[in-house]
Amino acid sequence: MKYGHFDDATREYVITNPQTPFPWINYLGNKDFFSLISNTAGGYSFYKDAKFRRLNRYRYNNVPMDDGGRYFYINDGENIWNPGWKPSKTELDSYECRHGMNYTKIKGEKNGISAEVLFFVPLNTWAEIQKVTLSNTSNEVKKFKFFSYNEWALWNAASDMENFQRNFSTGEVEIEDSVIYHKTEYRERRNHFAYYSVNTNIQGFDTDRETFVGLYNSHANPQVVSAGKPTNSHAHGWSPIASHYIEVELQPGESKDLVFVLGYVENDEDDKWESKGIINKTKAKEVLERFNTAQKVDAALAELKAYWDTILNVFTIDSGDDRLDRQVNIWNQYQCMITFNFSRSASYFESGIGRGMGFRDSNQDLLGFVHQAPKRARQRVIDIASTQFLDGGCYHQYQPLTKRGNNEVGGGFNDDPMWLILGVTSYIKESGDFTILDEMVPFDNDESLAQSMFNHLTISFNHVINNLGPNKLPLIGRADWNDCLNLNCFSNDPNESFQTTENNSEGSKAESLMIAGLFVYYGRDYIELCKLLGKSEEAARAQNEVDTMVKSIKENGWDGQWFLRAYDFYGNKIGSKENEEGKIFIESNGWCTMAKIGNDEGMCKKALDAVKERLDTKYGIVLNNPAYTKYHIEMGEISTYPAGYKENAGIFCHNNPWIMIGETELGRGDIAYDYYTKISPAFIEDIQELHKTEPYVYSQMIAGKDAFKPGEAKNSWLTGTAAWNYAAITQHILGIKPAFKGLEINPCIPKKWDGFKVKRKFRGYTLNIDVKNPNHVSKGVKQISIDDNVIIGDLIPVLEKNKEYAVKVVMG
Ligand code: GLC
Ligand code: GLC
Repeated sequence: MKYGHFDDATREYVITNPQTPFPWINYLGNKDFFSLISNTAGGYSFYKDAKFRRLNRYRYNNVPMDDGGRYFYINDGENIWNPGWKPSKTELDSYECRHGMNYTKIKGEKNGISAEVLFFVPLNTWAEIQKVTLSNTSNEVKKFKFFSYNEWALWNAASDMENFQRNFSTGEVEIEDSVIYHKTEYRERRNHFAYYSVNTNIQGFDTDRETFVGLYNSHANPQVVSAGKPTNSHAHGWSPIASHYIEVELQPGESKDLVFVLGYVENDEDDKWESKGIINKTKAKEVLERFNTAQKVDAALAELKAYWDTILNVFTIDSGDDRLDRQVNIWNQYQCMITFNFSRSASYFESGIGRGMGFRDSNQDLLGFVHQAPKRARQRVIDIASTQFLDGGCYHQYQPLTKRGNNEVGGGFNDDPMWLILGVTSYIKESGDFTILDEMVPFDNDESLAQSMFNHLTISFNHVINNLGPNKLPLIGRADWNDCLNLNCFSNDPNESFQTTENNSEGSKAESLMIAGLFVYYGRDYIELCKLLGKSEEAARAQNEVDTMVKSIKENGWDGQWFLRAYDFYGNKIGSKENEEGKIFIESNGWCTMAKIGNDEGMCKKALDAVKERLDTKYGIVLNNPAYTKYHIEMGEISTYPAGYKENAGIFCHNNPWIMIGETELGRGDIAYDYYTKISPAFIEDIQELHKTEPYVYSQMIAGKDAFKPGEAKNSWLTGTAAWNYAAITQHILGIKPAFKGLEINPCIPKKWDGFKVKRKFRGYTLNIDVKNPNHVSKGVKQISIDDNVIIGDLIPVLEKNKEYAVKVVMG
């Protein structure tokens, strides 16, 4: 069964049945002010930080699920219904939800009244706009009662769910004209408030939740809506809400637009009040003025769409396969922007209070985002690097609001530093801007410790070689990328966090082959950078370290048919044929083959063949095999998951591209592309009932072959999967890869492809790339020409700005 379909022309996913297998959500907002919105209008908004500046309440893990959002109720005398079906769940005559690029349109129709709501956050605006279009589609006059509803969160989403003894006494609102202001704690330590308004006269309102909903009712049947009469309640403590009441009359065929604005304001400390106890509303009124007509709102939506046109025009493919085109041109790029903005903080699987911006996560997200908005990427990578410690280690996470490292989580994840090299070099390769290397960047957010970004990279590189174990391989620390492989944790206390506990780390021999591969791969980028900067001594030193690492991997990290995963605390092998469970892992085999370690000796081919044989399944590549079936205290969280889920033999989509990329290094385009299509949303649209999560974005994990229901996905949206699949398809399969000195073109595609066309904007000029594959090979470039001039090699050098070039590539 299908619940919707893609509309490529409008770049929307169209949901036609509200009862999707799971809430299918979208993200509004692009910078500073954000919202999550489901296909039935559930969700919430926040300013910058989903934990500290939550505007409205959302109850995760509620029954029914996805309860709480921006709801509009229509009471037509006979029925009470919502345009998004929920929460009343009154059957609609028609329903449609269109999730587009940072906007969502939900339309419901019942008994001759149609209600369409457009939700979006305009560019550079701290507010969500909700434009409601009410139409009379019947032949008779329609009179009905219209209610809005929004429940305020008391800002800190964590204490909002815990500290009721205080919360029930602090809530404060102000009502002026058609605007309801939420000003809890503004009197003392906060200089921000929120507001919810509508651009028309209202005939009443409510601001107290229990009065509006009723203590024994629910969002499905609020008593005020049933009664058809607001009470003009004024909240004092308890749970403040904002509900407008509007009486509507529509002639046959008539339509009316209402513009609701849910906004956030910050005032200067000495400018907080209009008069005693009355908040200064100037800034809110400015925003309301900007959006007080439907025309102004439509213009703002057009601006948002134009913005997305620019973003998505940087890389566009015409491959002849709609599925690939919509992945590459629309949805994968869109998801990359979302992960860049949110890291792993707020989704329907991440509560917004758990995690901030991850060091490793955000650097990897940058890989998928940097071409869209290089300036923002530049600032981001500086923010990330500022949380590094002087020894090269770093805070594992930082809060977006303060940009400061999170002390509760701390550091000690030994892969983290290498990802900074990825972040910085990706930025330079895309933009050509080497000046970032001279930028003075703090350590531990302390300006007095600032050093150049280049030094941050050197220190990152050195962190690995300063922390080697007995096999001359990198010590793993708390964990590497797989933060469930906790080799120094040894926890038998369920109240301990696997990620932050080290009960046994003194004298640890736990080493990671994944970090080893990562070090070789990005170490080479570092070397190239040093050479470009004329730092030949440093380049030679680094080369020597990389060579030594390659040697150690071949000597101590090869298991005969594939690369080992790790050595544990005691120095025992993990991911070896000698193990009973977890004989082979994806990560080390991905990174070591990406880095072509032992390629001449046939190691890469053997390793990837083993991955194919042991880890490949119908729905993607599982992380390890055989799955762990009992708890191994010396391995930690990985062995706590039931077999087939998450890091224990789930299809962890983030790491599948590492194998795809490894395959392209071997030149096996058919296998690489087959892996790509197995997990690519547009290619598995037909199994949406099994897949469960949104069919337009990647999920972190798909249940593996050992699971109860293989193929069922979880943890959609916020995952490094987005960036890595985007990199795998664009840079390695299509083979169009930013490099320090230009753009490399070296595709690795299925043999049967005749070719493809890509339009790539790069460093201020446009390349119209036409790849032809007359001899049906997977890899190998015979000739490249730029405007009919044949070049030597596969690097398109930096060209003159503001021009278009025809690049012809012949494979063979
Ligand atoms: C999660 C984390 C990421 C980690 C991955 C694998 O997605 O956000 O940091 O690398 O899981 O464990
Ligand atoms: C673990 C998850 C992993 C995640 C980590 C974050 O429970 O399995 O994916 O990265 O928690 O703390």
